[in-house]
Amino acid sequence: MAFPSPEREQWSSRLGFVLAAAGSAIGLGNIWRFPFKAGDNGGGAFVLIYLACLLLLCVPYLFAELALGRNSKRNPVGAIRAIRGHSLWSLVGGLCVVTGLAIFSYYAVVAGWAVGYVFRDLTAAGASGAAFAQFIADPLWVVPLFGGFLVATAGVVAQGVRRGIERWAKILMPVLFVLLCLIAFRAVTLPGAGAGLEFYLTPDFSQVSGLMVVEALGQAFFSLSLGMGTMITYGSYLPDDENLVVAGSYVAVFDTLIALMAGLMIFPAVFAMGQNPAEGPSLVFVVLPDVFGAMPLGSFVGTLFFLFLAIAAFTSGISLLEVFVSYLVDETAWSRRTAAWGAGGVAFVIGLPSALSQGAVPALSDLSWLVGDRLLGPAPGVLDVVDFLWGSVALVLSAALLSVFVGWVWDADDALDELRTGDGHAMGRWVGPVWRAAIKYAFPAMILTVLVVDLLYGVL
Ligand code: PHE
Repeated sequence: MAFPSPEREQWSSRLGFVLAAAGSAIGLGNIWRFPFKAGDNGGGAFVLIYLACLLLLCVPYLFAELALGRNSKRNPVGAIRAIRGHSLWSLVGGLCVVTGLAIFSYYAVVAGWAVGYVFRDLTAAGASGAAFAQFIADPLWVVPLFGGFLVATAGVVAQGVRRGIERWAKILMPVLFVLLCLIAFRAVTLPGAGAGLEFYLTPDFSQVSGLMVVEALGQAFFSLSLGMGTMITYGSYLPDDENLVVAGSYVAVFDTLIALMAGLMIFPAVFAMGQNPAEGPSLVFVVLPDVFGAMPLGSFVGTLFFLFLAIAAFTSGISLLEVFVSYLVDETAWSRRTAAWGAGGVAFVIGLPSALSQGAVPALSDLSWLVGDRLLGPAPGVLDVVDFLWGSVALVLSAALLSVFVGWVWDADDALDELRTGDGHAMGRWVGPVWRAAIKYAFPAMILTVLVVDLLYGVL
């Protein structure tokens, strides 16, 4: 079996890594999922709890993934094998790799909708709810958009770590930031925006519940691209002299900043236009077009917004595909080019049912014939089921197992050594032991709690 090859690619600089990893972290999770979760959960209180989860659990765990990747210089399966040899633990790496491809398959469907919204002026339609439903049910729109997104992503991944992933992140991330500033500025200067700011920024603690904490932690995970080996893979392209703690912290800060700003652009606009913030997943695709339709310069801002969403989803999609591709490149004789196009093709086949599940094929939209009626909520479609199984359950399960692996099998002390490599000041005398305890005890326990609650909630 191949071992760290001398010709393995590396990021060209810290900036290259930070932009690529932030590109992975910043995606639909920040702009579509975070605002609707905050809106559903009462605004400010959710935001505060989200920040606490991020700081106390997700960032320490991010360091663990980066350390594992950089130490082994391998994909998730190879990383585990490099440390533990052939063992059942390799299956955890396998779970990461498969989860990446599965999430990618439906992430690309939703990303395709965002691309479609750039070209279709839905703000003029007035009844955006109906327009959205019609749009995502139309296979002639949805399938080409989905396929096109896959082709673009595979094209970048095929070009390699530096020439593909890093180069595109360097071009797209600044564009993303400028677009975000423009839209947020338009939103907060609307008359009546203050109520939205208040909802978003003033925590109302009477809203706090156990489930909300679980939702916030799950969201923090998804948003930082944790639990499926993305950060192991991106960490494996880091040179030994890089300070993992500093580089990882930058990624977390950018990701959080963009999520917070996404709320800042959405809630003032929603309140100023008299819409409901607790609209759930349709907040971005249905409520916002109405908001854009009613505001000055709306259709221009709307186009910018969906362009912004599509770019953010693109750099995340690249990282989702890269996990599987790095596995194929390390562990098989395939070239990167073949691996990227092959993995993209597989994602197309497994994602097609999700793409067609929004009304195009009724048997896929309502799976009650297969899974029975749930006790709560409407019968799920393929996209909901796949998102729940891979985006919630598998993600959290592999994060729990990975933290046990790093804390106990690899050993937290060795991981800590890896974190300290490259800069003696990282993880000082006090922070080190706290991190060690977190990764060994607090983290697995917390994640398993989330998993159990998630399962109960999803199945009931
Ligand atoms: N973090 C990405 C987002 O916020 C999604 C993602 C999850 C990407 C897991 C890679 C791995 O949209």
